Amino acid sequence: MTYNANTFLAYVDPINPDPQTMALAAQAIQTGGLVAFPTETVYGLGANAHSQQAVSQIFAAKQRPSNDPLIVHIADLDQLSQVALVNDERVWELVERFWAGALTLILPKQNSIPDNVTANQNTVAVRMPNNLIAQTLIRLAGLPIAAPSANRFSRPSPTTAQHVWHDLNGHVDIILDGGSTQIGVESTILDLTQPIPTVLRAGGVTLEALRELLPNVVVRQLYLKEGENAPASGTLLKHYSPNAEVWLFRGGNTALVHERMRQTAESYLAEGKRVGILLPDDELGVFTGLRVQVMLMGETNAQLARHLFNALRTLESAGVDIMLVQGLDEAGLGLAVLDRLYRAAEGRVIEVKG
Ligand code: TXA
Ligand code: MG
Repeated sequence: MTYNANTFLAYVDPINPDPQTMALAAQAIQTGGLVAFPTETVYGLGANAHSQQAVSQIFAAKQRPSNDPLIVHIADLDQLSQVALVNDERVWELVERFWAGALTLILPKQNSIPDNVTANQNTVAVRMPNNLIAQTLIRLAGLPIAAPSANRFSRPSPTTAQHVWHDLNGHVDIILDGGSTQIGVESTILDLTQPIPTVLRAGGVTLEALRELLPNVVVRQLYLKEGENAPASGTLLKHYSPNAEVWLFRGGNTALVHERMRQTAESYLAEGKRVGILLPDDELGVFTGLRVQVMLMGETNAQLARHLFNALRTLESAGVDIMLVQGLDEAGLGLAVLDRLYRAAEGRVIEVKG
């Protein structure tokens, strides 16, 4: 791909964003440009959500297929009616509880939202990010901002401005660097246009928290449970993939899982492959003595979520051919992390029985 923009990378204090830098970024949005900005989940690649032309630049920059709809970001509740039709009492309860925050709602769309934002559907995805840089950008631009994650299509989502620069330098006008994102996985997508409220993507707002308001919420199947057969080829979407083979190990017996991971590492090393391992901190000792690169990702599920995409990208930059990672429990952000691991592994899942 050839470069078509002079990318301007600007550090912005996340607590006290510089007004001049923010004004420049807002102007870029108003004039049809692309601005990458931090949110509390991952970085977004933003454009004026009312402009078909500006939005088309997002698809070009990401090399994203046009049938994959975007999320519209707002900063104030007044903007919601510009984007979506709200004829459902549950919306107000949900936004009261979860906005600003990592919950995206699928609602009937307003006519003024161009078709390429929603991939020709009559519903729209909308959320209010909980990040001062994002909120300031939207307010100063005076427009809702359509923004997917700011990565090249099918790559791990960006949790730092450097990740955005790596994927999109030359294809975005301004990157606002507000440091590492806090949550580290994307927002939870909740479809309220279904007869039963349905989570389409697990994310930053946990299922446990959603259930407190919506006891009947269901989750669209995110990945295969133990013992289930793989779906027809093609239905397991390639997504979040680093440029290396990822293998996911699952099983109830941690010692056996580690044993199997060690054997797998040894056999790849014997073939001359470079191997990386993603590990929780407390398992540091498990792979000593092997010539592998280890990324420690913290201990709690929330820490694993925060560090996952950076770990995948860091091991990729280190040049590993193979990445080994084990599953985790589904509690809290664990469900979202497992979903991303399944997709990164593109179906390379080893169930360790015992
Ligand atoms: O945390 C996030 O959600 C980040 C930050 C930047 O806000 N954004 C993000 O966007 O992850 P993206 O484009 O990578 O994922 C948006 C997904 C789409 O892939 C699509 O599956 C779903 O949202 N989506 C958007 N509009 C939809 C619609 N009308 N119906 C169903 N799903 C929709
Ligand atoms: Mg994405």
